[in-house]
Amino acid sequence: MEDLFKNIIGHCKTYGFIFPSSEIYDGLSATYDYGPNGVELKNNIKQAWWKSMVQMHANIVGIDAAIFMHPQVWKASGHVDAFNDPLIDNKQSKKRYRADVLVEDYMAKIEAKINKEIAKAAKRFGDAFDEAEYRSTNGRVLGYAAKHEEARLRLAKAMTDGDLEDMHQMIVDYEIACPESGSREWTEVRQFNLMFSTQLGAVAGEEGKLYLRPETAQGIFVNFLNVQKSARQKIPFGIAQIGKAFRNEIIARQFIFRMREFEQMEMQFFVAPGTQEQWYEHWKAERLAWHQSLGGSDTDLRFHDHDNLAHYADAAVDIEFKFPFGFKELEGIHSRTDFDLTQHQELSGKKLQYFDPERDESYVPYVVETSIGVDRMFLSALTRAYTVEEVPDGKGGSSERIVLKLPPSLAPVKVAILPLLKNNSDLTSLAHQIYDELKLQVPCEYEEKDAIGRRYRRQDAIGTPYCVTVDHDSLDDNSVTVRDRDSLQQDRIAISQLSSYLQERLG
Ligand code: GAP
Repeated sequence: MEDLFKNIIGHCKTYGFIFPSSEIYDGLSATYDYGPNGVELKNNIKQAWWKSMVQMHANIVGIDAAIFMHPQVWKASGHVDAFNDPLIDNKQSKKRYRADVLVEDYMAKIEAKINKEIAKAAKRFGDAFDEAEYRSTNGRVLGYAAKHEEARLRLAKAMTDGDLEDMHQMIVDYEIACPESGSREWTEVRQFNLMFSTQLGAVAGEEGKLYLRPETAQGIFVNFLNVQKSARQKIPFGIAQIGKAFRNEIIARQFIFRMREFEQMEMQFFVAPGTQEQWYEHWKAERLAWHQSLGGSDTDLRFHDHDNLAHYADAAVDIEFKFPFGFKELEGIHSRTDFDLTQHQELSGKKLQYFDPERDESYVPYVVETSIGVDRMFLSALTRAYTVEEVPDGKGGSSERIVLKLPPSLAPVKVAILPLLKNNSDLTSLAHQIYDELKLQVPCEYEEKDAIGRRYRRQDAIGTPYCVTVDHDSLDDNSVTVRDRDSLQQDRIAISQLSSYLQERLG
């Protein structure tokens, strides 16, 4: 899995998906730039989300709020006081860690031991192996599971209570060493606020202190009544937004999984008090179905209920994806109660209530939120799509190819138009003609450099679903060869039918 991750990172750079930011200055930690294919894939992800959330729901509308907001917003939301991570330093290596992540890594090691025992037993017992029974009866597995559960519960309690002392004690009790130096000399655990701050114009001191938003959600909350009234929405309704968020993560690592500047796609669904549980279940199912529609399956997606809830939530679940470094949060679904609107109402002194004609009463609505990182969705799509396989080489043997099996809707380029030879003007001009027509319908690429086989491989590597080859016969029969990325099947199609043939398959 480590190799897979390294290969995906290398692939992203080689094929223009993602570059380290400011690379000529040796980069800036945990900051990345999206290249020509990356920006297309990222835009396609955002478009798929926007279409499914906003365009497919009459009762969900979009906004695009400013990144800078009044500083009181973050006081009201609880981020100034409670948006902290527990930080710990190793005295010997001088490296800084999140105390909860150190404990989680310790738990992941126990889980790996359990999986190793199970893999060994599966090999030993063959077809007769019953994993559930083995998990519930094998002494060693039960011992590991008990240790894991004890750590999980203790961590959840310490996080919920903000008990920094016990978090430190856990690191001592579990004999956790610095991954860098192996030293167990740790400082105390202290809270570290994740918000980046900056200064408004020339206003000095606390007065002019502004924050870069750590979530897009607050732009939605403060606009709740503006949107409800102007869009003439009735509860239940939702407001969706895509935009940048910033967090001064203590450890930002694992490529684009955890960054300090990232993008979120969030939707706040405003509901009547008492109906939030039903809507929470509704959005859990809807969001899972969205991931499944883009190729997700039971083997790479799972729900994970939060062990400790954020300061604003009464229920929360993650949709986890099996990244190359294990199952991790891809999207969060949170029942945020009426916390945010009530807080904003109190601090601003402005009523944020809705008059419900059916109930004949005014109330502060409850909110169910769906929140997903664009960059994490990008990494999950690449992880799922990245395939190394043997294919026939056309000479009776086989050769290895790297192909991105992206759903067509996400592929940066949908169709590549390839003249068989670049120095035959009849072929190139017919290929240009086809390109000029098709580009009006779908994102296309015209490519004439290198032998046709190499061009196919390059298109496979960026995930192009169809390659259209213009050859000598095309000049006589007005047909072209269309190659399918996944099946490698080649169909001969009349140029007059090409557009409908492709639309049917890409749709
Ligand atoms: N409004 C709720 C909220 O922000 P969150 O669980 O903190 O909840 C939501 O974040 C999503 O944003 C996560 O599921 C993840 O996909 C993405 N995300 C959070 N922090 C991130 C980071 N440092 N880098 C990349 N994506 C991040």
